[in-house]
Amino acid sequence: MLLSPTPPDVHAIRIALHHGSRHELWSLFELADDSAMAIRRYLDLGLVHVASLGGVAIGHAQIVPHDVRTWELRSLAVLGPYRARGVGTGLVRRSIAWVREHGAAQLLVATASADLDTLGFYQRLGFRMLRIERNAFTPEGGYPVGLSVRGVPVRDRVWLEIPL
Ligand SMILES: CC(C)(COP(=O)(O)OP(=O)(O)OC[C@H]1O[C@@H](n2cnc3c(N)ncnc32)[C@H](O)[C@@H]1OP(=O)(O)O)[C@@H](O)C(=O)NCCC(=O)NCCS
Repeated sequence: MLLSPTPPDVHAIRIALHHGSRHELWSLFELADDSAMAIRRYLDLGLVHVASLGGVAIGHAQIVPHDVRTWELRSLAVLGPYRARGVGTGLVRRSIAWVREHGAAQLLVATASADLDTLGFYQRLGFRMLRIERNAFTPEGGYPVGLSVRGVPVRDRVWLEIPL
């Protein structure tokens, strides 16, 4: 199915748990993580909510348990043409609601310290900084050498949390 180049009607976008193969969502996972090696390790873990428009997946949010009280929002992405319309916010809110309903006390998320827009996005949603993991994005972990976001080197990973 061809995707419409015109702005989508946000009311036509549905968010639901994904029950099909995770490999169908590979290109969305790739938008959220530059390491295919890393994605392969967590692709099949936890649960994935998918935002879809006319039956086509345009965004996803994966949640993975660390233990019964703590979950992680491991992967989140929205296709470029559908961004800045509240789809990412909707996916995060649905993930928060799901883990809260299932007894979690905390939802974690991690992103590159270089990705200032994403850090702002999560903090606007209520996440607070927790800790920094230095040198998390190495070639040994499958990340390209010299990776940067608007000139800021991608080196360290920032962990954020939202109490539920
Ligand atoms: C991060 C990401 C998932 C956000 O998805 P999104 O659908 O654009 O998110 P939203 O539309 O809910 O919010 C994005 C911005 O649009 C704005 N926005 C939300 N609804 C809007 C609307 N109806 N009209 C205009 N702008 C809107 C929000 O204010 C928000 O601003 P902020 O980023 O400064 O907080 C998306 O940018 C993405 O896929 N990025 C690449 C992958 C990635 O970095 N993933 C996270 C890795 S940890």
